[in-house]
Amino acid sequence: MNKMLVRSGRQLQGEVNISSAKNAILPIIAASILSSDTCTIENAPMLRDVFVICDVLKTINAKISIKNIEDKIIINTSDLVCEEPDSDLVRKMRASFLIMGPMIARFKKFKISFPGGCNIGTRPIDLHLKGFASLGAQVSFGHGYVEAYANKLVGSRIYLDFPSVGATENIMMAAVLAEGETVIENAASEPEVEDLANFLKRMGAQIYGAGTDTIRIIGVKELKGVKYRPIPDRIEAGTFMAAAAITKSRIKLNGVNEEHLKPIIAKLVEVGVIVIPDKDGIIIDGKNNFNPIDIKTMPYPGFPTDMQAQMMSLLCTVHGTSVITETIFENRFMHASELEKMGANIKINGRCAIVEGVDTLTGSEVKATDLRAGAALIIAGLIADGYTKIRDIYHIDRGYVNIEEKFKQLGANIERIEE
Ligand code: EPZ
Repeated sequence: MNKMLVRSGRQLQGEVNISSAKNAILPIIAASILSSDTCTIENAPMLRDVFVICDVLKTINAKISIKNIEDKIIINTSDLVCEEPDSDLVRKMRASFLIMGPMIARFKKFKISFPGGCNIGTRPIDLHLKGFASLGAQVSFGHGYVEAYANKLVGSRIYLDFPSVGATENIMMAAVLAEGETVIENAASEPEVEDLANFLKRMGAQIYGAGTDTIRIIGVKELKGVKYRPIPDRIEAGTFMAAAAITKSRIKLNGVNEEHLKPIIAKLVEVGVIVIPDKDGIIIDGKNNFNPIDIKTMPYPGFPTDMQAQMMSLLCTVHGTSVITETIFENRFMHASELEKMGANIKINGRCAIVEGVDTLTGSEVKATDLRAGAALIIAGLIADGYTKIRDIYHIDRGYVNIEEKFKQLGANIERIEE
């Protein structure tokens, strides 16, 4: 079983190149269903989740070539069949459900097993299904699966109860080939939603307002295959920023989109981290003394829930009381008990985590409970006395490309061990 071994005592230095965004490429791969031409994704991050969604598409006869060396994925769905994809694969990763919208758009019917929740929450799909129904699909449920059928899809006005990222993306992909105009109100405005819209527009879709809370889609007859390079991963960038801060280091991140990092930068600056924009990246310097802060995770452009665990690690050794409120997922504090094993002082009270800064953390045997929690334990391990052994690191590989190599390049004492 692979584990990550992290030893403290090193400052970080040098530069790290940020990969393309996991949460952008997954819906983009799903959107390739919408054209029977070939789509090529460049600078693709070679992540477990990317391989899983490609495997799901291969079970319904998509032809996919993953070129590891060139970081390129070439997808042709001309021979796609409208059959239920392998349910074990679908249940492996919730984002597999993002193929439902494009499959309904292309075949007007589709059946898929429930994506299931994961340990950060129940992860319902009611908003996705409500959107499909608004467009004219008959949605029905069976034992562990959901299916939809439509004579045709007709544009409509949909108001999302919550600005769900996945629901916005799935409905947008279902609407691009529908008859007439669709308006999604209270839509998610995350950069990854906008990136998907840019991919679809490159294919010939008519989409207006992506990146805001109101997205207008005018259906077209067909879409063509394209080449596309997804946006940089703002959460991977934030993860390395928190690592530089906790180790009091100065590093440079290359290939970031500073606009997408604004909510993360704002909170790090509030802690006392120095952030310096640089020509094609940003410089992070953690030399100052830090202040405790309050964080509340919110839909974009609020502070991202996917950075909550990493910031909790940083705040564990910031003297004073910091309060973290998780408003997006109902069970996303599991990393707190792992950090407490390392000597952190954290009290969970419902959706709030009260973090009292301690002088030091102590290396310990801990487990990654989700991919961001795993990254947070690496961050804590960089300064914890002794060494920290992290198990269940398959979670981390879902969302970070060669994370230990990137940390090693920055001078960290970290290695993947077989036990
Ligand atoms: C996306 O998940 C991301 N995943 C998540 O990243 C991210 O944490 C999340 O958005 C929030 O930003 C991908 O993009 C692949 P949501 P998603 O639908 O789409 C409720 C990571 O670490 N909801 O915006 O599943 C839901 O219960 C992962 O990279 C409904 O109630 O998130 C949750 O409370 C973790 N009904 C809230 O909305 C629905 O039909 C946010 O979920 C859908 C969602």
